Amino acid sequence: MSFRTIETEGPVRLVVVGAGGMGRAWARTIRDSGDAELVGIADLSSAAAEAAAAETGVPGLALGSDAVGLARRTGADAIVNATVPEAHHPVTAAALRAGLPVLGEKPVAASVAEGLSLAATAEHTGRLFMVSQSRRYHHSLHRAKRRLETLGAVGVVAVDFYKAPHFGGFRDEMASPLLLDMAIHQFDMARFLLDADPVSVSCEEYNPPWSWYAGDAAATAVFAMEGGARFVFNGSWCSPGLETSWNGSWRISAERGTVLWDGEGEPRAEPDEPGPSADDPGREIAGSLREFLAALRTGREPMGRVHANVMSLAMVEAAIQSASQGKRVAIDDVLARSHEAALAAERDADALAVMKAWPSVRDALSQKEPQ
Ligand SMILES: NC(=O)c1ccc[n+]([C@@H]2O[C@H](COP(=O)([O-])OP(=O)(O)OC[C@H]3O[C@@H](n4cnc5c(N)ncnc54)[C@H](O)[C@@H]3O)[C@@H](O)[C@H]2O)c1
Repeated sequence: MSFRTIETEGPVRLVVVGAGGMGRAWARTIRDSGDAELVGIADLSSAAAEAAAAETGVPGLALGSDAVGLARRTGADAIVNATVPEAHHPVTAAALRAGLPVLGEKPVAASVAEGLSLAATAEHTGRLFMVSQSRRYHHSLHRAKRRLETLGAVGVVAVDFYKAPHFGGFRDEMASPLLLDMAIHQFDMARFLLDADPVSVSCEEYNPPWSWYAGDAAATAVFAMEGGARFVFNGSWCSPGLETSWNGSWRISAERGTVLWDGEGEPRAEPDEPGPSADDPGREIAGSLREFLAALRTGREPMGRVHANVMSLAMVEAAIQSASQGKRVAIDDVLARSHEAALAAERDADALAVMKAWPSVRDALSQKEPQ
């Protein structure tokens, strides 16, 4: 599926929307990129926008509260949406309809239904909407994937994620903090490693007695993936001692060998033979910025395009449903219910027509990502 590319020479002009922790990280990353230029920062809070602008040290940055208005005023080529998840849909949909490509923070939206609406909006506007899954951009993850390709069929991808952060604030109060706020990273990395989408999931969520979170801060989820492999996520956010890395600790068991990756250093494999070389994808959000800019300039399908990325959020919603219902949940059921909800909620006639014309949601979403 094609999208409008950018023909202008020189750095791509970007407005960052949302001046919280991530928005400020994006502003610094864009400032330091030779291929993009930070031209403005938008936030509902003018104090947040001003503080973020001062922190960048970029003189004369334009500020505002409305992303599209600020982009028009500054002549921006695209926006980076680093707002809270509830604002992802309205901010991104308005930008796409105004003709602006969008690079958005994960998750794609606050729900799969809203994610489908954004996929449809990207389709009918012909503009690129890419979701930044920053943990995909790690050289060792790409090395592990290339090594895996030489080891035959994969039986299981297993990740252990054990951390003990005391965030304070909303994560300590929300339901399902681990599954909603963190596990999407590992779920998305598993889709990348296997180059496969999920079929079904069985999940249990629980809260250890000593937990400092109100909601369940630990979970075990077993996904059946297309092609037959299993993906097992084992995690806790209240597990002090011998913590794993933020990427988690990975074991991938395949027909002719095993790959181990601690989430930070080089992956190890047995048999211990040199694997094929892997391109350096860049690091974290600097990597996804590079991917977005290359896609805008060349029309090449980027990793994280909205259609494919919705599947990572569908894994989260399906895991939470499975845990609350105490049974295995089919991803296609989550997609079908989300499609119904998206059709009922859609106010944009063009997006509605696109969603109604999809032969099936899975077919509409399943454009294989570039490897
Ligand atoms: N990739 C990662 O590793 C990573 C890490 C942390 C957060 N995130 C994601 O980044 C996003 C932002 O997280 P954060 O921690 O920076 O949140 P935050 O709450 O610190 O900041 C969000 C900002 O968005 C602003 N905002 C809300 N609605 C807006 C709107 N309609 N228009 C303009 N501004 C609006 C708020 O005023 C706030 O300043 C979330 O989607 C989160 O999941 C990703």
